[in-house]
Amino acid sequence: MASLIPKPRKKLVFLASGRGSNLEAVLQVIQKGKIPANPAFLITDNPEAPSIQIAARHNVPTKILDWKSYSKKEEYHLDLLRTLEEISPDLIVACGYMRILKPEIIRAFRNRIINIHPSLLPSFTGLHAQKQAFDYGVKIAGCTAHFVDEGVDSGPIILQGVIKIEEGMTERELTLAILKEEHKILPLAVKHFCEDRLLIKDRKVSIL
Ligand code: GRF
Repeated sequence: MASLIPKPRKKLVFLASGRGSNLEAVLQVIQKGKIPANPAFLITDNPEAPSIQIAARHNVPTKILDWKSYSKKEEYHLDLLRTLEEISPDLIVACGYMRILKPEIIRAFRNRIINIHPSLLPSFTGLHAQKQAFDYGVKIAGCTAHFVDEGVDSGPIILQGVIKIEEGMTERELTLAILKEEHKILPLAVKHFCEDRLLIKDRKVSIL
């Protein structure tokens, strides 16, 4: 009789610089036992990030690499690479991480870094994506969970969440609606990764 052997849980590292609502969304789903993952560490560049408290509430330790304390910024990126190599995670989840990852890190963890971005990529890359979309006057906005490559918000798309912009919607309402959607698609993208369901071919991601 065939028996099901559970697959090993994936080791996760989170990168976050700020509020941490996406971090919390993922940790909550892990805690409910719905993602086969062990959250190993949060790494932050900001010692005042509220994300640190969120991680602590979920018993996830934080490593702080204080961006401001590095007079030579290359040293920060080297330390980040060293720290990541030491932990050796299966997956890195960037959730509100405000630095651009250096190519060395992307190479070392190719197709093992997921980011959440608050626009329907490839539109509105970079900062203040919700405002960019709102000011442009698009009728459909949303968010994207994607693998990170050497470009800015340009890696293979895993999932997207869509928000219809209704007449009279404010930028703030749009930003909140997008964030709510982020909290759904990021945990789902992480879950698919941890269940070995993501296949990347010619930059297209299939969910098996
Ligand atoms: C989110 O809007 C995310 O898409 C973007 O930064 C914001 C982080 O929010 N990359 P939070 O820290 O997860 O609450």
